[in-house]
Amino acid sequence: MIGRIVGTGSYIPQYCMDNNDIAKLVETSDEWIRERTGVARRHIISGEETTVSMASVAGKRALENAGIEPEEVDLILVSTISSNVILPCAACEVQKEIGAVNATCFDLNAACTGFILAYNTAAAYIAAGVYKTALIIGSESLSNLTNWNDRGTCILFGDGAGAAVLAAQPEASETSETTDKPEASENDTSKLFIPVTHSNGAGGEALSLKSRHDANGLTKEVDKEETFDEAHYMQMDGRAVFKFAVKKVPEVIEETLQLNKLKKENIACYILHQANRRIIESVAKRLDEPLEKFPMNLEEYGNTSSASIPILLDEWNRQGKLKSGSKIVLAGFGAGLTWGASVISV
Ligand code: COA
Repeated sequence: MIGRIVGTGSYIPQYCMDNNDIAKLVETSDEWIRERTGVARRHIISGEETTVSMASVAGKRALENAGIEPEEVDLILVSTISSNVILPCAACEVQKEIGAVNATCFDLNAACTGFILAYNTAAAYIAAGVYKTALIIGSESLSNLTNWNDRGTCILFGDGAGAAVLAAQPEASETSETTDKPEASENDTSKLFIPVTHSNGAGGEALSLKSRHDANGLTKEVDKEETFDEAHYMQMDGRAVFKFAVKKVPEVIEETLQLNKLKKENIACYILHQANRRIIESVAKRLDEPLEKFPMNLEEYGNTSSASIPILLDEWNRQGKLKSGSKIVLAGFGAGLTWGASVISV
């Protein structure tokens, strides 16, 4: 069996901070942020909004989009580094909220590569025949983990959630008369594509958050000076992360295409983690692919970590841009270091 994406959903907080708002907090400018990152605005949770509440709404919307009842879901996976709950896990909280009473639930932390690994995990369970219907969600309130005094990071990140429903469908070879698996044709969309993922713990210092132990709990307010400890917030060597991304992302995409015997002309578009416009432009250039094949929405949302890929996927789905029969590459990268790519067919 293969797990095919049959529905998507997302949730974006209403409250929006533009670059001029950021320039009131740290020494920066709208011009600098746009030029170096492509980000113009980011949405930030407020009021009752949390990682779990955003995940639940995105999940509900994905199920509605798929026409699947919550009771039919066998697996809920939430990818997050910024959950408002540690125990129970965010996925169990989502289960409670949406009434997916038959699902097995757990969370996954692989930072900005998290949605790729959630997708791969769900797809592998489905391929093994363990589950039939999976709801995978990336949800992040990075505003809670952002040091709003640090202009090297606070310009980049935003909050939001995206979700997808994977449903088991027979692989092309399973419907064939013969027992030998035939070579899938280039146009065959019912093929199990093998993902490629990598990790390098030795490079982990480039993007880290050492401690979440904070007497005030997780708060997005700037700490009072006397209690401020930057270890409670994300710390990043921006240049090192940039160099890592522009080298490893095109490499892993090439590796994935090669492994699955796909040519670039078979790929309708590349949905990359939305971290920085310059990173995406560089990946396109290194792959020798037109930038038009790389949709972007980071101008509006900034980097929403593991939520960025499913938010963009949902936007494209709802705009009718995911054309049936086409193949799409999803690729993520981030803290760990972690990176990977998966081919999906729609
Ligand atoms: N506003 C204005 N100036 C800034 C600034 C800001 N927000 N941040 C840094 N600067 C200054 C620096 O102090 C430096 O000044 P100097 O030349 O006088 O020393 C100059 O701008 C260049 O700094 P540098 O760090 O080299 O900038 P950059 O072009 O690498 O851009 C990032 C910084 C963070 C935007 C960029 O490195 C980046 O996007 N990296 C990847 C981060 C990422 O994607 N992380 C998440 C991965 S999941």
